[in-house]
Amino acid sequence: MRYIEFGEQKAKASEVMIGLMRIKEMSVPEVTELIEAALDEGINALDIADVYGRGTCETILGEVFAANPGLRDRVFLQSKVGIRKEPDGFTWYDFSKEHIIEAVDAGLARMGVDHVDSMLLHRPDVLMEPDEVGEALETLKDQGKVLDWGVSNLNPAMLGRLERRVPVKLATNQMQLSCAFTPAFNGAFNVNMENDAAIMRDGGIFECCEDRGMVIQAWSTMQYGYFEGAFLGSPKYPELNAKLEELAEKYGVTPMAVALAWVLRYPAKMQAVIGTTKPSRVREAARACDFELTRKEWYEIYCSAGNVLP
Ligand SMILES: NC(=O)c1ccc[n+]([C@@H]2O[C@H](COP(=O)([O-])OP(=O)(O)OC[C@H]3O[C@@H](n4cnc5c(N)ncnc54)[C@H](OP(=O)(O)O)[C@@H]3O)[C@@H](O)[C@H]2O)c1
Repeated sequence: MRYIEFGEQKAKASEVMIGLMRIKEMSVPEVTELIEAALDEGINALDIADVYGRGTCETILGEVFAANPGLRDRVFLQSKVGIRKEPDGFTWYDFSKEHIIEAVDAGLARMGVDHVDSMLLHRPDVLMEPDEVGEALETLKDQGKVLDWGVSNLNPAMLGRLERRVPVKLATNQMQLSCAFTPAFNGAFNVNMENDAAIMRDGGIFECCEDRGMVIQAWSTMQYGYFEGAFLGSPKYPELNAKLEELAEKYGVTPMAVALAWVLRYPAKMQAVIGTTKPSRVREAARACDFELTRKEWYEIYCSAGNVLP
């Protein structure tokens, strides 16, 4: 496994990260097996959020920690707050000071832990007041409940607005990226052209994060579209799958590992979050750190997903 130094605490966090968004139907022994499989491979970073299963996923993780004394201290634990889901399903975003503090406390209680290594503001609240956000982040950091803060799905303008007014350093921005989900790169390649790929949808957020030395965490690294399904084995992506299989054979790994190596090849401090519920796939994923794709291979994968370079 490869590791990055995360945030001001310089925590050792694995480049492959286990996402726990899909564990709400799993038992405590099953989730324990998933995490133990990750730790066996050197993967120590876990990603969860208060909104996953409306708190159920954090509760299950808390039960896993309670059943396995010492486990919490072996992992780099990250959660997220800021998305609110009402009982009727209505979803909205809330970066008010009151909500951030309440939500962090509630999440810590569900997981049965006194702190997280990292906490992210999950999706931008356009109504956020940066000074108020800053007070919440600083309070929770001073209390030792959140060791490092980060954000998710923020564009450069919102990130800059927070950075100027929030008195804590933001360690990461978690963004969607996979071989089959590349709007950020499409805009960069087609700059100033008159085709739709030239539309810059994110304001150059990858470049902006790299410039700042922020960690970029890629979410849904196996999906195409917005949770439309895994591209691996999908008939919608024959050329991509053929290319991943060819390179998997070359490097002695599986296509999943090649797809993750593609994400990790971006020249920033990268982490790739995987959402599998299967220990065997966790073991496959770990191999992504055993090799590095060449530049040409990276471009071949990008084009085999249906992208055209100008
Ligand atoms: N910040 C955000 O806004 C945000 C949004 C979404 C997700 N996330 C984070 O990112 C994590 C990962 O997201 P995700 O769950 O969408 O990840 P993902 O790894 O892209 O997708 C996981 C799904 O793909 C399937 N899958 C994985 N590997 C496969 C393979 N080799 N072949 C076929 N199917 C495969 C899994 O099934 P099996 O379980 O059967 O393997 C699972 O249903 C989440 O857990 C969460 O922590 C963050």
